Amino acid sequence: MTKEFSYDENWALFYEKITTMRGKGAEADETAAFLERYCSGGSALELGIGDGRVAVPLSERGVRVEGVDNSDSMLKLLAKRTDLIKAWKGDIADFSSEQRYNLVYCVHGTFTLLSTREAQIAGLRCAAEALDDDGTLVIELYVPALSHFINGQKTTTTLVDYENTLINADVHDPLNQNLISTILWFSGTSVRRFPQRLRYVYHQELDTMAECVGLEQAERWGDWAKGAFTDGSKRHISVYRRTSL
Ligand SMILES: C[S@@+](CC[C@H](N)C(=O)[O-])C[C@H]1O[C@@H](n2cnc3c(N)ncnc32)[C@H](O)[C@@H]1O
Repeated sequence: MTKEFSYDENWALFYEKITTMRGKGAEADETAAFLERYCSGGSALELGIGDGRVAVPLSERGVRVEGVDNSDSMLKLLAKRTDLIKAWKGDIADFSSEQRYNLVYCVHGTFTLLSTREAQIAGLRCAAEALDDDGTLVIELYVPALSHFINGQKTTTTLVDYENTLINADVHDPLNQNLISTILWFSGTSVRRFPQRLRYVYHQELDTMAECVGLEQAERWGDWAKGAFTDGSKRHISVYRRTSL
């Protein structure tokens, strides 16, 4: 994520609210239960750890979780929630760690916040290098939703309740596989905007990029309960291991 789109203090406070409004907080326990199965030696690293939505319930299951994030504001929220998780400021496309982990994971579409192909491959390479020999990389990505764009633009209402209206205004840049996606949050008499630039990838491109850095796809699921990934799935959870030579 470039500085222009980074999670500043306003974004961080909004992120906490929006995850609750969208039921993402409740989903975190199911995510942690899924991830725990890949941590037999007890260690995990989250890429883009944010406020610890997933890392905290995973650490409560006895896993030693560490994390990296490039936002001071998100790291502050995490530090407020727990002192059990070691997290440091860094770029998930350019980090190294002396420690090796059983599990490295990147959830909730965070990988697409690396908005170029080069950054995404670099991020996968850093993730692969942080894995121990039998380690597992888990990535949760949303299937690109590219229908209904008119002249490269689309607006979608994503949540309406008595107090809040959330509208997503998306601009498509097909040459770079980028979406500039702005959330407009109407609440009371105020409107706030939260822009992000992301590079969407289909699962097969993700597999190819992973192969470039010595990883191979081991599993793919449509949800955290290990439902099948089908042509109707809106997301996938892809599991990678080191390529056996
Ligand atoms: C969608 S939030 C996900 C947070 C958390 N993983 C969760 O599932 O709730 C994306 C997080 O990734 C961080 N982030 C975005 N780009 C990053 C980068 N290049 N390097 C490190 N962190 C990044 C943001 O600051 C934010 O905390």
